[in-house]
Amino acid sequence: MQTHVFDAVIVGAGGGGLMAALHASRAVSTAVISKLHPLRSHTGAAQGGVGAALGNLEEDRWEWHAYDTVKGSDFLADQDSVDILCRGAVEAVIELEHMGLPFDRTPDGRIAQRPFGGHTNNETHQPVRRACHAADRTGHMILQTLYQQCLKNRVTFFDEFQILDLVTVDREVRGVVAVEIVTGEVHVFHSKATLLATGGYGRVWQITSNAAALTGDGNAIVLRNGFPLQDMEFYQFHPTGIYGMGILITEGVRGEGGVLINGLGERFMPRYAPTIKDLASRDVVSRAIYLEIQAGRGIEGKDYVYLDVTPDTVNRYFKLDGKRNPDGTWRRITGADIESKLPDIADFTRTYLGVDPVRQPMPVQPTAHYAMGGIPTNVDGQVTVDEYATPVPGLYAVGECACVSVHGANRLGTNSLNDLLVFGRRAGAHMAIFCREASLQLLPADPAARVKARMDQLRSGKGTVRPAALREHLQRVMMQHVGVFRVEAGMQQAVREIHALRSQVDDIRLDDRGHRFNTDLLEAFQTQNLLDLAEVIAAGALARHESRGAHAREDFPNRDDRNWLVHTLAFRRPDGGTELRYKPVVIARYQPRERLY
Ligand code: FUM
Repeated sequence: MQTHVFDAVIVGAGGGGLMAALHASRAVSTAVISKLHPLRSHTGAAQGGVGAALGNLEEDRWEWHAYDTVKGSDFLADQDSVDILCRGAVEAVIELEHMGLPFDRTPDGRIAQRPFGGHTNNETHQPVRRACHAADRTGHMILQTLYQQCLKNRVTFFDEFQILDLVTVDREVRGVVAVEIVTGEVHVFHSKATLLATGGYGRVWQITSNAAALTGDGNAIVLRNGFPLQDMEFYQFHPTGIYGMGILITEGVRGEGGVLINGLGERFMPRYAPTIKDLASRDVVSRAIYLEIQAGRGIEGKDYVYLDVTPDTVNRYFKLDGKRNPDGTWRRITGADIESKLPDIADFTRTYLGVDPVRQPMPVQPTAHYAMGGIPTNVDGQVTVDEYATPVPGLYAVGECACVSVHGANRLGTNSLNDLLVFGRRAGAHMAIFCREASLQLLPADPAARVKARMDQLRSGKGTVRPAALREHLQRVMMQHVGVFRVEAGMQQAVREIHALRSQVDDIRLDDRGHRFNTDLLEAFQTQNLLDLAEVIAAGALARHESRGAHAREDFPNRDDRNWLVHTLAFRRPDGGTELRYKPVVIARYQPRERLY
Protein backbone atom coordinates (compact mmCIF):
# COMPACT_ATOMS: atom_id res chain seq x y z
CA MET A 1 0.00 0.00 0.00
CA GLN A 2 1.36 3.41 -0.92
CA THR A 3 0.75 6.54 1.16
CA HIS A 4 0.92 10.06 -0.31
CA VAL A 5 0.92 13.27 1.70
CA PHE A 6 -0.46 16.61 0.45
CA ASP A 7 -1.92 19.63 2.19
CA ALA A 8 -5.04 19.51 0.02
CA VAL A 9 -6.46 16.43 -1.69
CA ILE A 10 -9.24 16.89 -4.22
CA VAL A 11 -11.29 13.97 -5.50
CA GLY A 12 -12.72 14.58 -8.96
CA ALA A 13 -11.27 16.50 -11.90
CA GLY A 14 -14.38 18.12 -13.35
CA GLY A 15 -14.79 21.89 -13.35
CA GLY A 16 -15.41 22.08 -9.57
CA GLY A 17 -12.39 19.97 -8.64
CA LEU A 18 -10.09 21.76 -11.07
CA MET A 19 -11.24 25.24 -10.04
CA ALA A 20 -10.69 24.35 -6.36
CA ALA A 21 -7.30 22.79 -7.18
CA LEU A 22 -6.22 25.87 -9.09
CA HIS A 23 -7.02 28.19 -6.21
CA ALA A 24 -5.72 25.89 -3.44
CA SER A 25 -2.49 25.22 -5.32
CA ARG A 26 -1.62 28.90 -5.34
CA ALA A 27 -0.78 28.49 -1.63
CA VAL A 28 -0.43 24.82 -0.62
CA SER A 29 0.58 21.43 -2.05
CA THR A 30 -2.42 20.03 -3.91
CA ALA A 31 -3.29 16.69 -5.50
CA VAL A 32 -6.26 15.78 -7.69
CA ILE A 33 -7.43 12.16 -7.78
CA SER A 34 -9.78 11.21 -10.59
CA LYS A 35 -11.26 7.97 -11.83
CA LEU A 36 -11.03 9.35 -15.37
CA HIS A 37 -8.48 11.39 -17.22
CA PRO A 38 -9.44 14.96 -16.20
CA LEU A 39 -10.42 15.92 -19.74
CA ARG A 40 -12.95 13.10 -19.81
CA SER A 41 -14.77 14.42 -16.73
CA HIS A 42 -18.50 14.95 -17.06
CA THR A 43 -18.24 18.75 -17.03
CA GLY A 44 -17.35 18.13 -20.68
CA ALA A 45 -20.96 17.09 -21.28
CA ALA A 46 -22.26 20.56 -20.36
CA GLN A 47 -23.01 22.00 -23.73
CA GLY A 48 -24.99 25.18 -24.06
CA GLY A 49 -23.39 27.72 -21.79
CA VAL A 50 -22.50 29.17 -18.40
CA GLY A 51 -24.95 31.71 -16.99
CA ALA A 52 -23.60 35.15 -16.12
CA ALA A 53 -25.40 38.49 -16.33
CA LEU A 54 -22.75 40.20 -18.47
CA GLY A 55 -25.40 42.09 -20.42
CA ASN A 56 -23.32 41.89 -23.59
CA LEU A 57 -26.27 41.79 -26.01
CA GLU A 58 -29.06 43.42 -24.02
CA GLU A 59 -29.67 44.77 -20.56
CA ASP A 60 -29.15 42.26 -17.77
CA ARG A 61 -28.38 42.37 -14.04
CA TRP A 62 -27.05 39.79 -11.59
CA GLU A 63 -30.08 40.50 -9.38
CA TRP A 64 -32.39 39.35 -12.23
CA HIS A 65 -30.29 36.22 -12.52
CA ALA A 66 -30.65 35.72 -8.76
CA TYR A 67 -34.42 36.10 -8.87
CA ASP A 68 -34.72 33.70 -11.84
CA THR A 69 -32.59 31.18 -9.95
CA VAL A 70 -34.74 31.41 -6.81
CA LYS A 71 -37.96 31.24 -8.82
CA GLY A 72 -36.59 28.32 -10.88
CA SER A 73 -35.70 26.54 -7.62
CA ASP A 74 -39.38 26.80 -6.61
CA PHE A 75 -38.15 28.92 -3.69
CA LEU A 76 -36.15 26.13 -2.06
CA ALA A 77 -32.71 27.62 -2.85
CA ASP A 78 -30.87 29.43 -0.05
CA GLN A 79 -30.99 33.04 -1.15
CA ASP A 80 -27.69 34.09 0.46
CA SER A 81 -25.91 31.40 -1.61
CA VAL A 82 -27.79 32.43 -4.75
CA ASP A 83 -26.61 36.03 -4.42
CA ILE A 84 -23.01 34.82 -4.15
CA LEU A 85 -23.54 32.58 -7.18
CA CYS A 86 -25.02 35.20 -9.47
CA ARG A 87 -22.67 38.02 -8.52
CA GLY A 88 -19.70 35.63 -8.62
CA ALA A 89 -20.67 34.19 -12.01
CA VAL A 90 -19.81 37.45 -13.76
CA GLU A 91 -16.32 37.48 -12.17
CA ALA A 92 -15.80 33.77 -12.85
CA VAL A 93 -16.57 34.09 -16.57
CA ILE A 94 -14.16 37.02 -16.89
CA GLU A 95 -11.54 35.01 -14.98
CA LEU A 96 -11.93 32.15 -17.47
CA GLU A 97 -11.78 34.55 -20.39
CA HIS A 98 -8.48 35.87 -19.04
CA MET A 99 -7.18 32.31 -18.74
CA GLY A 100 -7.86 31.90 -22.46
CA LEU A 101 -11.21 30.11 -22.68
CA PRO A 102 -12.30 30.44 -26.34
CA PHE A 103 -15.81 31.82 -25.87
CA ASP A 104 -17.85 32.59 -28.99
CA ARG A 105 -17.83 36.32 -29.72
CA THR A 106 -20.25 39.04 -30.73
CA PRO A 107 -19.35 40.95 -33.92
CA ASP A 108 -17.73 43.63 -31.73
CA GLY A 109 -15.60 41.07 -29.86
CA ARG A 110 -17.47 40.59 -26.60
CA ILE A 111 -18.43 37.19 -25.16
CA ALA A 112 -21.51 35.92 -27.04
CA GLN A 113 -24.62 35.00 -25.04
CA ARG A 114 -27.78 33.04 -25.84
CA PRO A 115 -31.15 32.57 -24.10
CA PHE A 116 -31.72 29.53 -21.87
CA GLY A 117 -34.69 28.17 -19.95
CA GLY A 118 -35.99 30.30 -17.09
CA HIS A 119 -33.53 33.19 -17.63
CA THR A 120 -35.50 36.40 -18.10
CA ASN A 121 -35.50 40.14 -18.19
CA ASN A 122 -37.35 40.64 -14.90
CA GLU A 123 -39.16 43.69 -16.26
CA THR A 124 -40.45 42.40 -19.61
CA HIS A 125 -40.52 38.73 -18.47
CA GLN A 126 -39.11 37.79 -21.88
CA PRO A 127 -36.08 35.47 -22.29
CA VAL A 128 -32.74 37.25 -21.85
CA ARG A 129 -29.42 36.27 -23.46
CA ARG A 130 -27.35 35.23 -20.42
CA ALA A 131 -25.65 31.92 -21.34
CA CYS A 132 -22.00 32.54 -22.31
CA HIS A 133 -21.00 29.82 -24.76
CA ALA A 134 -18.25 28.20 -26.75
CA ALA A 135 -20.48 26.67 -29.47
CA ASP A 136 -22.12 23.66 -27.76
CA ARG A 137 -18.84 22.63 -26.13
CA THR A 138 -18.76 25.07 -23.23
CA GLY A 139 -18.05 22.44 -20.56
CA HIS A 140 -15.25 20.98 -22.64
CA MET A 141 -13.61 24.34 -23.01
CA ILE A 142 -13.86 24.93 -19.25
CA LEU A 143 -12.10 21.62 -18.61
CA GLN A 144 -9.34 22.33 -21.13
CA THR A 145 -8.75 25.80 -19.74
CA LEU A 146 -8.69 24.83 -16.07
CA TYR A 147 -6.62 21.68 -16.65
CA GLN A 148 -3.84 23.56 -18.38
CA GLN A 149 -3.85 26.19 -15.63
CA CYS A 150 -3.61 23.45 -12.98
CA LEU A 151 -0.67 21.86 -14.80
CA LYS A 152 1.02 25.24 -14.95
CA ASN A 153 0.42 25.59 -11.20
CA ARG A 154 2.08 22.22 -10.53
CA VAL A 155 -1.01 20.44 -9.21
CA THR A 156 -0.19 16.70 -8.93
CA PHE A 157 -2.68 14.50 -10.79
CA PHE A 158 -3.50 10.87 -10.00
CA ASP A 159 -5.54 9.81 -13.03
CA GLU A 160 -7.66 6.65 -13.04
CA PHE A 161 -7.79 6.23 -9.28
CA GLN A 162 -11.19 5.22 -7.89
CA ILE A 163 -12.03 6.62 -4.43
CA LEU A 164 -13.29 3.93 -2.04
CA ASP A 165 -13.49 5.56 1.38
CA LEU A 166 -12.62 8.50 3.60
CA VAL A 167 -10.03 8.20 6.34
CA THR A 168 -11.74 9.45 9.47
CA VAL A 169 -10.83 9.61 13.15
CA ASP A 170 -13.63 10.69 15.50
CA ARG A 171 -15.53 12.19 12.52
CA GLU A 172 -12.47 14.22 11.53
CA VAL A 173 -11.39 13.58 7.94
CA ARG A 174 -7.67 12.91 7.39
CA GLY A 175 -7.67 11.87 3.75
CA VAL A 176 -9.05 9.24 1.41
CA VAL A 177 -8.42 5.66 0.31
CA ALA A 178 -8.42 4.94 -3.42
CA VAL A 179 -7.52 2.09 -5.74
CA GLU A 180 -5.22 2.60 -8.70
CA ILE A 181 -7.33 1.10 -11.45
CA VAL A 182 -4.48 -0.14 -13.65
CA THR A 183 -2.69 -2.10 -10.88
CA GLY A 184 -5.42 -2.75 -8.32
CA GLU A 185 -3.10 -1.36 -5.65
CA VAL A 186 -4.65 0.49 -2.70
CA HIS A 187 -3.32 4.02 -2.03
CA VAL A 188 -3.88 6.26 0.98
CA PHE A 189 -3.92 10.02 0.43
CA HIS A 190 -3.12 11.73 3.73
CA SER A 191 -4.13 15.38 3.85
CA LYS A 192 -5.02 18.33 6.02
CA ALA A 193 -8.03 19.15 3.84
CA THR A 194 -10.05 16.91 1.53
CA LEU A 195 -12.49 18.11 -1.11
CA LEU A 196 -15.04 15.94 -2.87
CA ALA A 197 -15.98 16.97 -6.40
CA THR A 198 -17.15 13.58 -7.59
CA GLY A 199 -20.09 14.76 -9.70
CA GLY A 200 -23.59 13.39 -9.97
CA TYR A 201 -25.39 10.07 -9.90
CA GLY A 202 -27.66 9.99 -12.94
CA ARG A 203 -26.84 6.31 -13.35
CA VAL A 204 -29.47 5.64 -10.69
CA TRP A 205 -31.98 5.96 -13.59
CA GLN A 206 -32.38 3.98 -16.80
CA ILE A 207 -32.54 6.90 -19.25
CA THR A 208 -29.89 9.43 -18.38
CA SER A 209 -27.64 12.03 -19.92
CA ASN A 210 -24.95 11.03 -17.44
CA ALA A 211 -21.86 9.08 -18.46
CA ALA A 212 -21.17 5.61 -17.02
CA ALA A 213 -18.83 7.17 -14.45
CA LEU A 214 -21.61 9.13 -12.73
CA THR A 215 -22.27 6.78 -9.83
CA GLY A 216 -22.32 9.19 -6.89
CA ASP A 217 -19.19 7.78 -5.27
CA GLY A 218 -18.44 10.77 -3.03
CA ASN A 219 -22.05 11.11 -1.86
CA ALA A 220 -22.41 7.43 -0.99
CA ILE A 221 -19.10 7.38 0.89
CA VAL A 222 -20.09 10.47 2.88
CA LEU A 223 -23.43 8.88 3.76
CA ARG A 224 -21.81 5.61 4.88
CA ASN A 225 -19.42 7.59 7.08
CA GLY A 226 -22.30 9.01 9.10
CA PHE A 227 -22.62 12.42 7.42
CA PRO A 228 -25.94 13.60 5.96
CA LEU A 229 -27.06 14.23 2.37
CA GLN A 230 -29.41 17.11 1.61
CA ASP A 231 -32.50 17.39 -0.62
CA MET A 232 -31.82 14.12 -2.41
CA GLU A 233 -35.45 13.78 -3.53
CA PHE A 234 -34.94 16.64 -6.00
CA TYR A 235 -33.50 15.22 -9.20
CA GLN A 236 -33.79 16.99 -12.52
CA PHE A 237 -34.94 15.42 -15.78
CA HIS A 238 -33.64 17.45 -18.72
CA PRO A 239 -36.47 17.71 -21.27
CA THR A 240 -34.43 16.86 -24.34
CA GLY A 241 -32.43 13.67 -24.30
CA ILE A 242 -31.95 11.68 -27.52
CA TYR A 243 -34.90 9.29 -27.62
CA GLY A 244 -34.08 5.86 -26.19
CA MET A 245 -30.49 6.82 -25.29
CA GLY A 246 -30.79 9.83 -23.03
CA ILE A 247 -27.75 11.63 -24.52
CA LEU A 248 -28.16 15.36 -23.92
CA ILE A 249 -29.46 17.68 -26.62
CA THR A 250 -28.62 21.07 -25.24
CA GLU A 251 -31.24 23.57 -24.20
CA GLY A 252 -29.12 25.85 -26.39
CA VAL A 253 -31.11 24.35 -29.30
CA ARG A 254 -34.23 26.01 -27.92
CA GLY A 255 -32.08 29.06 -27.07
CA GLU A 256 -31.33 29.32 -30.80
CA GLY A 257 -35.07 29.11 -31.57
CA GLY A 258 -35.83 25.34 -31.61
CA VAL A 259 -39.38 24.34 -30.62
CA LEU A 260 -41.03 21.22 -29.19
CA ILE A 261 -43.67 19.60 -31.39
CA ASN A 262 -46.15 16.84 -30.50
CA GLY A 263 -47.68 14.03 -32.58
CA LEU A 264 -50.36 16.41 -33.89
CA GLY A 265 -47.64 18.64 -35.31
CA GLU A 266 -48.53 21.24 -32.70
CA ARG A 267 -46.09 23.44 -30.77
CA PHE A 268 -47.41 22.60 -27.31
CA MET A 269 -45.32 24.64 -24.85
CA PRO A 270 -47.43 27.83 -25.19
CA ARG A 271 -50.25 25.89 -23.47
CA TYR A 272 -48.02 25.21 -20.44
CA ALA A 273 -45.92 28.40 -20.31
CA PRO A 274 -47.67 31.15 -22.30
CA THR A 275 -45.02 33.84 -21.79
CA ILE A 276 -41.73 32.01 -22.09
CA LYS A 277 -42.96 28.91 -24.00
CA ASP A 278 -40.20 26.44 -24.94
CA LEU A 279 -37.78 28.27 -22.65
CA ALA A 280 -39.67 27.55 -19.43
CA SER A 281 -37.69 25.92 -16.62
CA ARG A 282 -36.76 22.27 -17.10
CA ASP A 283 -39.20 20.80 -14.57
CA VAL A 284 -42.07 22.53 -16.36
CA VAL A 285 -40.95 21.42 -19.84
CA SER A 286 -40.24 17.81 -18.82
CA ARG A 287 -43.67 17.51 -17.22
CA ALA A 288 -45.29 19.04 -20.31
CA ILE A 289 -43.66 16.41 -22.53
CA TYR A 290 -44.86 13.60 -20.25
CA LEU A 291 -48.38 15.01 -20.20
CA GLU A 292 -48.45 15.22 -24.00
CA ILE A 293 -47.28 11.62 -24.21
CA GLN A 294 -49.79 10.48 -21.57
CA ALA A 295 -52.56 12.17 -23.56
CA GLY A 296 -51.58 10.12 -26.62
CA ARG A 297 -49.94 13.08 -28.35
CA GLY A 298 -46.45 11.60 -28.57
CA ILE A 299 -45.06 11.16 -32.08
CA GLU A 300 -47.04 8.33 -33.67
CA GLY A 301 -48.56 7.81 -30.20
CA LYS A 302 -45.15 6.75 -28.85
CA ASP A 303 -43.24 8.06 -25.82
CA TYR A 304 -41.31 10.88 -27.46
CA VAL A 305 -41.82 14.28 -29.06
CA TYR A 306 -39.87 16.28 -31.64
CA LEU A 307 -37.38 19.05 -31.05
CA ASP A 308 -37.39 21.03 -34.27
CA VAL A 309 -34.62 23.50 -35.09
CA THR A 310 -34.97 23.33 -38.88
CA PRO A 311 -34.72 26.89 -40.30
CA ASP A 312 -38.21 26.83 -41.88
CA THR A 313 -39.89 26.01 -38.57
CA VAL A 314 -37.74 28.28 -36.43
CA ASN A 315 -38.06 31.29 -38.74
CA ARG A 316 -41.83 30.82 -38.92
CA TYR A 317 -42.12 30.88 -35.12
CA PHE A 318 -39.71 33.82 -34.83
CA LYS A 319 -42.23 35.76 -36.93
CA LEU A 320 -45.26 34.50 -35.01
CA ASP A 321 -43.54 35.40 -31.72
CA GLY A 322 -42.46 38.80 -33.04
CA LYS A 323 -38.74 38.13 -32.49
CA ARG A 324 -36.64 40.87 -34.05
CA ASN A 325 -32.94 41.79 -33.95
CA PRO A 326 -31.87 45.06 -32.25
CA ASP A 327 -31.80 46.73 -35.72
CA GLY A 328 -35.50 45.87 -36.26
CA THR A 329 -34.96 43.09 -38.82
CA TRP A 330 -36.60 39.71 -38.23
CA ARG A 331 -34.54 37.20 -36.24
CA ARG A 332 -33.53 34.34 -38.55
CA ILE A 333 -31.55 31.13 -38.36
CA THR A 334 -29.83 29.36 -41.27
CA GLY A 335 -28.45 25.86 -41.75
CA ALA A 336 -24.97 27.34 -41.47
CA ASP A 337 -25.88 28.82 -38.06
CA ILE A 338 -26.90 25.38 -36.82
CA GLU A 339 -23.63 23.88 -38.04
CA SER A 340 -21.53 26.58 -36.39
CA LYS A 341 -23.47 27.15 -33.14
CA LEU A 342 -24.54 23.54 -32.46
CA PRO A 343 -21.85 21.41 -34.14
CA ASP A 344 -21.79 18.63 -31.52
CA ILE A 345 -25.58 18.30 -31.52
CA ALA A 346 -25.59 18.00 -35.29
CA ASP A 347 -22.88 15.36 -35.03
CA PHE A 348 -24.68 13.39 -32.25
CA THR A 349 -28.03 13.25 -34.00
CA ARG A 350 -26.50 12.33 -37.36
CA THR A 351 -24.37 9.63 -35.72
CA TYR A 352 -26.83 8.14 -33.24
CA LEU A 353 -30.17 8.72 -34.97
CA GLY A 354 -29.37 9.26 -38.62
CA VAL A 355 -31.25 12.55 -38.27
CA ASP A 356 -29.93 15.73 -39.84
CA PRO A 357 -31.15 18.58 -37.58
CA VAL A 358 -30.83 21.11 -40.40
CA ARG A 359 -33.55 19.24 -42.31
CA GLN A 360 -35.38 17.01 -39.81
CA PRO A 361 -36.78 17.28 -36.29
CA MET A 362 -35.02 15.32 -33.53
CA PRO A 363 -36.88 12.68 -31.47
CA VAL A 364 -36.42 13.53 -27.77
CA GLN A 365 -37.62 12.45 -24.33
CA PRO A 366 -36.82 13.66 -20.80
CA THR A 367 -33.56 12.23 -19.44
CA ALA A 368 -32.24 12.02 -15.87
CA HIS A 369 -29.71 14.82 -15.83
CA TYR A 370 -28.77 16.60 -12.63
CA ALA A 371 -28.86 16.25 -8.85
CA MET A 372 -30.06 19.35 -7.05
CA GLY A 373 -29.34 17.65 -3.72
CA GLY A 374 -26.04 16.38 -2.41
CA ILE A 375 -23.49 16.81 0.36
CA PRO A 376 -24.56 19.88 2.38
CA THR A 377 -22.00 22.68 2.47
CA ASN A 378 -21.71 26.28 3.51
CA VAL A 379 -20.74 28.98 0.99
CA ASP A 380 -17.02 28.19 1.43
CA GLY A 381 -17.55 24.59 0.44
CA GLN A 382 -17.15 23.24 3.99
CA VAL A 383 -19.30 20.15 4.52
CA THR A 384 -21.92 20.67 7.21
CA VAL A 385 -23.33 17.94 9.39
CA ASP A 386 -26.59 19.01 10.94
CA GLU A 387 -29.59 21.34 11.02
CA TYR A 388 -27.38 24.11 12.42
CA ALA A 389 -24.91 23.98 9.52
CA THR A 390 -22.01 22.94 11.77
CA PRO A 391 -18.96 22.47 9.49
CA VAL A 392 -16.63 19.45 9.57
CA PRO A 393 -13.12 20.95 9.74
CA GLY A 394 -11.09 19.86 6.73
CA LEU A 395 -13.89 18.32 4.63
CA TYR A 396 -15.17 20.17 1.57
CA ALA A 397 -17.48 19.44 -1.36
CA VAL A 398 -18.32 21.37 -4.54
CA GLY A 399 -20.16 20.93 -7.82
CA GLU A 400 -22.92 18.48 -8.51
CA CYS A 401 -22.06 16.20 -5.58
CA ALA A 402 -22.58 19.14 -3.22
CA CYS A 403 -25.65 21.10 -2.11
CA VAL A 404 -24.89 24.68 -1.11
CA SER A 405 -27.98 25.14 -1.93
CA VAL A 406 -28.35 27.30 -5.03
CA HIS A 407 -30.62 25.03 -7.09
CA GLY A 408 -33.27 24.18 -4.51
CA ALA A 409 -35.96 22.01 -6.08
CA ASN A 410 -35.02 22.67 -9.72
CA ARG A 411 -31.87 24.01 -11.38
CA LEU A 412 -31.88 26.49 -14.22
CA GLY A 413 -29.82 25.50 -17.24
CA THR A 414 -26.28 27.04 -17.20
CA ASN A 415 -26.32 27.23 -13.40
CA SER A 416 -24.31 24.04 -12.94
CA LEU A 417 -21.23 25.52 -14.57
CA ASN A 418 -21.32 28.80 -12.68
CA ASP A 419 -21.97 26.83 -9.45
CA LEU A 420 -18.82 24.77 -9.83
CA LEU A 421 -16.73 27.79 -10.85
CA VAL A 422 -17.92 30.16 -8.13
CA PHE A 423 -17.97 27.67 -5.27
CA GLY A 424 -14.93 25.76 -6.55
CA ARG A 425 -12.96 28.97 -6.33
CA ARG A 426 -14.28 29.79 -2.84
CA ALA A 427 -13.62 26.27 -1.56
CA GLY A 428 -10.08 26.20 -3.00
CA ALA A 429 -9.27 29.54 -1.39
CA HIS A 430 -10.76 28.43 1.93
CA MET A 431 -8.80 25.17 1.85
CA ALA A 432 -5.58 27.09 1.30
CA ILE A 433 -6.18 29.20 4.43
CA PHE A 434 -7.26 26.14 6.42
CA CYS A 435 -4.16 24.16 5.38
CA ARG A 436 -1.81 26.96 6.31
CA GLU A 437 -3.22 27.07 9.83
CA ALA A 438 -3.86 23.36 10.44
CA SER A 439 -1.27 20.70 11.17
CA LEU A 440 -1.29 17.25 9.61
CA GLN A 441 -3.01 14.85 12.01
CA LEU A 442 -1.85 11.26 12.44
CA LEU A 443 -3.38 8.48 10.37
CA PRO A 444 -5.06 5.57 12.16
CA ALA A 445 -3.08 2.28 12.34
CA ASP A 446 -4.38 0.75 9.10
CA PRO A 447 -6.41 3.42 7.31
CA ALA A 448 -7.32 1.11 4.43
CA ALA A 449 -8.36 -1.90 6.54
CA ARG A 450 -12.08 -1.57 5.82
CA VAL A 451 -11.54 -1.14 2.09
CA LYS A 452 -9.12 -4.06 1.81
CA ALA A 453 -11.51 -6.34 3.70
CA ARG A 454 -14.35 -5.43 1.34
CA MET A 455 -12.18 -5.94 -1.75
CA ASP A 456 -11.04 -9.34 -0.50
CA GLN A 457 -14.64 -10.31 0.26
CA LEU A 458 -15.76 -9.29 -3.23
CA ARG A 459 -12.86 -11.06 -4.97
CA SER A 460 -13.51 -14.31 -3.11
CA GLY A 461 -17.34 -14.07 -3.07
CA LYS A 462 -19.13 -17.29 -3.98
CA GLY A 463 -22.57 -15.75 -4.48
CA THR A 464 -24.68 -15.70 -7.61
CA VAL A 465 -25.56 -12.03 -8.11
CA ARG A 466 -23.94 -10.01 -10.89
CA PRO A 467 -23.50 -6.25 -10.16
CA ALA A 468 -24.89 -5.34 -13.60
CA ALA A 469 -28.13 -7.21 -12.90
CA LEU A 470 -28.60 -5.29 -9.62
CA ARG A 471 -27.90 -1.98 -11.35
CA GLU A 472 -30.27 -2.60 -14.24
CA HIS A 473 -33.07 -3.65 -11.90
CA LEU A 474 -32.52 -0.52 -9.80
CA GLN A 475 -32.53 1.74 -12.86
CA ARG A 476 -35.86 0.34 -14.06
CA VAL A 477 -37.47 0.75 -10.63
CA MET A 478 -36.27 4.33 -10.24
CA MET A 479 -37.35 5.27 -13.75
CA GLN A 480 -40.79 3.85 -13.20
CA HIS A 481 -41.50 5.02 -9.66
CA VAL A 482 -39.15 7.86 -8.73
CA GLY A 483 -38.98 9.72 -12.04
CA VAL A 484 -40.73 12.83 -13.36
CA PHE A 485 -44.11 12.01 -11.75
CA ARG A 486 -44.35 10.24 -8.40
CA VAL A 487 -47.11 8.68 -6.33
CA GLU A 488 -47.20 7.09 -2.84
CA ALA A 489 -47.79 3.47 -3.83
CA GLY A 490 -45.12 3.52 -6.54
CA MET A 491 -42.52 5.01 -4.24
CA GLN A 492 -43.36 2.51 -1.52
CA GLN A 493 -42.78 -0.25 -4.03
CA ALA A 494 -39.48 1.40 -5.01
CA VAL A 495 -38.37 1.50 -1.37
CA ARG A 496 -39.19 -2.21 -0.96
CA GLU A 497 -37.37 -3.18 -4.13
CA ILE A 498 -34.31 -1.06 -3.34
CA HIS A 499 -34.21 -2.66 0.10
CA ALA A 500 -34.31 -6.12 -1.47
CA LEU A 501 -31.59 -5.20 -3.96
CA ARG A 502 -29.36 -3.81 -1.21
CA SER A 503 -29.68 -7.05 0.71
CA GLN A 504 -28.18 -8.87 -2.30
CA VAL A 505 -24.95 -6.87 -2.29
CA ASP A 506 -23.23 -9.42 -0.05
CA ASP A 507 -24.14 -12.14 -2.51
CA ILE A 508 -22.22 -10.58 -5.41
CA ARG A 509 -20.08 -12.81 -7.58
CA LEU A 510 -17.36 -11.31 -9.76
CA ASP A 511 -16.21 -12.89 -13.02
CA ASP A 512 -12.86 -11.13 -12.75
CA ARG A 513 -11.02 -11.81 -9.50
CA GLY A 514 -7.75 -10.28 -10.60
CA HIS A 515 -6.05 -7.04 -9.67
CA ARG A 516 -5.23 -5.24 -12.92
CA PHE A 517 -7.95 -3.04 -14.41
CA ASN A 518 -10.68 -4.98 -12.63
CA THR A 519 -13.76 -3.11 -13.86
CA ASP A 520 -15.96 -5.88 -12.48
CA LEU A 521 -14.78 -5.03 -8.97
CA LEU A 522 -15.23 -1.31 -9.57
CA GLU A 523 -18.73 -1.91 -10.86
CA ALA A 524 -19.56 -3.77 -7.64
CA PHE A 525 -18.47 -0.74 -5.58
CA GLN A 526 -20.29 1.68 -7.85
CA THR A 527 -23.50 -0.36 -7.84
CA GLN A 528 -23.47 -0.33 -4.07
CA ASN A 529 -23.10 3.45 -4.22
CA LEU A 530 -26.10 3.76 -6.55
CA LEU A 531 -28.21 1.53 -4.32
CA ASP A 532 -27.31 3.49 -1.18
CA LEU A 533 -28.22 6.76 -2.88
CA ALA A 534 -31.45 5.40 -4.36
CA GLU A 535 -32.52 4.47 -0.85
CA VAL A 536 -32.25 8.06 0.43
CA ILE A 537 -33.72 9.54 -2.77
CA ALA A 538 -36.82 7.35 -2.49
CA ALA A 539 -37.14 7.84 1.29
CA GLY A 540 -36.96 11.63 0.95
CA ALA A 541 -39.44 11.65 -1.94
CA LEU A 542 -41.92 9.42 -0.13
CA ALA A 543 -41.84 11.62 2.96
CA ARG A 544 -42.28 14.95 1.13
CA HIS A 545 -46.04 15.42 0.82
CA GLU A 546 -46.08 18.20 -1.75
CA SER A 547 -45.04 18.99 -5.33
CA ARG A 548 -42.13 21.39 -5.70
CA GLY A 549 -39.77 21.84 -8.65
CA ALA A 550 -38.62 18.50 -9.96
CA HIS A 551 -40.50 16.59 -7.22
CA ALA A 552 -43.97 16.23 -8.79
CA ARG A 553 -46.43 14.10 -6.82
CA GLU A 554 -49.72 13.20 -8.42
CA ASP A 555 -51.21 12.63 -4.94
CA PHE A 556 -49.97 16.00 -3.58
CA PRO A 557 -50.07 18.23 -6.68
CA ASN A 558 -49.54 21.58 -4.91
CA ARG A 559 -46.56 23.24 -3.32
CA ASP A 560 -47.01 23.47 0.46
CA ASP A 561 -44.91 26.28 1.89
CA ARG A 562 -46.55 26.03 5.30
CA ASN A 563 -45.23 22.56 5.95
CA TRP A 564 -42.54 21.90 3.36
CA LEU A 565 -40.48 25.03 2.80
CA VAL A 566 -37.59 23.10 4.36
CA HIS A 567 -34.46 21.25 3.29
CA THR A 568 -34.32 17.51 3.89
CA LEU A 569 -31.29 16.01 5.63
CA ALA A 570 -30.98 12.23 5.17
CA PHE A 571 -28.76 10.20 7.51
CA ARG A 572 -27.88 6.52 7.31
CA ARG A 573 -29.18 4.76 10.45
CA PRO A 574 -27.01 2.06 12.07
CA ASP A 575 -29.53 -0.57 10.84
CA GLY A 576 -28.97 0.63 7.25
CA GLY A 577 -32.27 2.52 6.98
CA THR A 578 -32.67 6.28 6.50
CA GLU A 579 -33.39 8.94 9.13
CA LEU A 580 -34.83 12.19 7.80
CA ARG A 581 -34.48 15.55 9.51
CA TYR A 582 -35.30 19.01 8.20
CA LYS A 583 -33.71 22.45 8.27
CA PRO A 584 -34.99 25.90 7.29
CA VAL A 585 -34.48 27.51 3.89
CA VAL A 586 -32.66 30.87 3.85
CA ILE A 587 -35.19 33.41 2.55
CA ALA A 588 -33.89 36.96 2.01
CA ARG A 589 -35.25 39.35 -0.65
CA TYR A 590 -37.71 37.04 -2.37
CA GLN A 591 -40.80 35.75 -0.61
CA PRO A 592 -42.19 32.52 -2.10
CA ARG A 593 -44.93 33.10 -4.67
CA GLU A 594 -46.64 31.22 -7.44
CA ARG A 595 -44.34 30.40 -10.34
CA LEU A 596 -45.73 31.56 -13.66
CA TYR A 597 -43.81 31.29 -16.91
O1 FUM B 1 -28.83 22.00 -22.02
C1 FUM B 1 -27.66 22.10 -21.72
O2 FUM B 1 -26.77 22.56 -22.45
C2 FUM B 1 -27.28 21.70 -20.35
C3 FUM B 1 -26.75 22.59 -19.58
C4 FUM B 1 -26.97 22.47 -18.15
O3 FUM B 1 -27.33 21.40 -17.66
O4 FUM B 1 -26.82 23.49 -17.48
